[in-house]
Amino acid sequence: MKYRIAIMAALVATWTGPVLAQEKDPTIAGIEKYREMLGDDNPAELYEARGEILWKKADGPNRVSLEKCDLGLGPGVVKGAYAQSPRYFADADRVMDIETRINWCREKIQGFSSADVKKKPFGSADKPSQIEDLLAYVVTASKGMKIAPPNSHPKEKEAYELGKALFFVRAGPYDFSCASCHGEDEKRIRLQGLPNLTTPRDTKASHAAWPAYRVSTSRLHSMQWRINDCYRQQRFPEPGYMTDSVNALITYLAVTGEGELYKGPSLKR
Ligand code: HEC
Repeated sequence: MKYRIAIMAALVATWTGPVLAQEKDPTIAGIEKYREMLGDDNPAELYEARGEILWKKADGPNRVSLEKCDLGLGPGVVKGAYAQSPRYFADADRVMDIETRINWCREKIQGFSSADVKKKPFGSADKPSQIEDLLAYVVTASKGMKIAPPNSHPKEKEAYELGKALFFVRAGPYDFSCASCHGEDEKRIRLQGLPNLTTPRDTKASHAAWPAYRVSTSRLHSMQWRINDCYRQQRFPEPGYMTDSVNALITYLAVTGEGELYKGPSLKR
């Protein structure tokens, strides 16, 4: 709550009316001010702290923790695993993003059903979902590490190519693709700048910041959520959670943004 009041105050204080061409966007200025006020604090840390407890807790029908979960760098290795995702997992014979993989471990190790892990992946401000907590814990362990999805296994390359193709698929009532909003430099929608996700420059900055705590919703959001919500903005049918197509788009973004040091979970508008 305190954070919410602070951001509102920061936004109101910097709102100066309609934006003139050369003036700094008041929303962006407001967020910058908010970031300054918070210093190094980010509410995502609360998710991370809860996530660490959950990770180590004997849970699920099998009453075991996730500490043996193999996120790609070997059983139990959390550090750096996010930075090297998405990747191909032979045991599942699929390319998985980190969220899909954590849920896979919840199913295979802890014994949760597939329906359980898919039931409510995106929480609310008052009630974050368990996967969001776990995700925050896992990704934070890659802070400062280079984004380096392997992109070497044929299925990883296939996922990248599929994601790239999906990025340009136009359909729906507006005939939009991802590229309609994210395919050019310096585009804006309402007051928000839209990164050009066909360029390494913008994709690096974007990818290295996700998952992100969003001030306007008081929630931590995952990349699975981001793609789901962008499909909504694109007026497409809702994509399935953790499906190959969403994971392919995430692979495309991770590979396009590789080389950047991971800075998340960050604060967003
Ligand atoms: C109708 C316009 C629109 C379409 C189409 C669209 N997006 Fe977005 N996208 C947005 C907006 C608006 C934001 C949020 C910008 C903000 O909050 O600052 C966003 C944010 C994002 C971000 C996070 C950027 C960042 O740095 O925070 C990613 C990644 C993204 N979109 C990917 C996609 C993908 C992949 C698709 C296609 C499935 C897509 N978008 C389709 C409008 C769109």
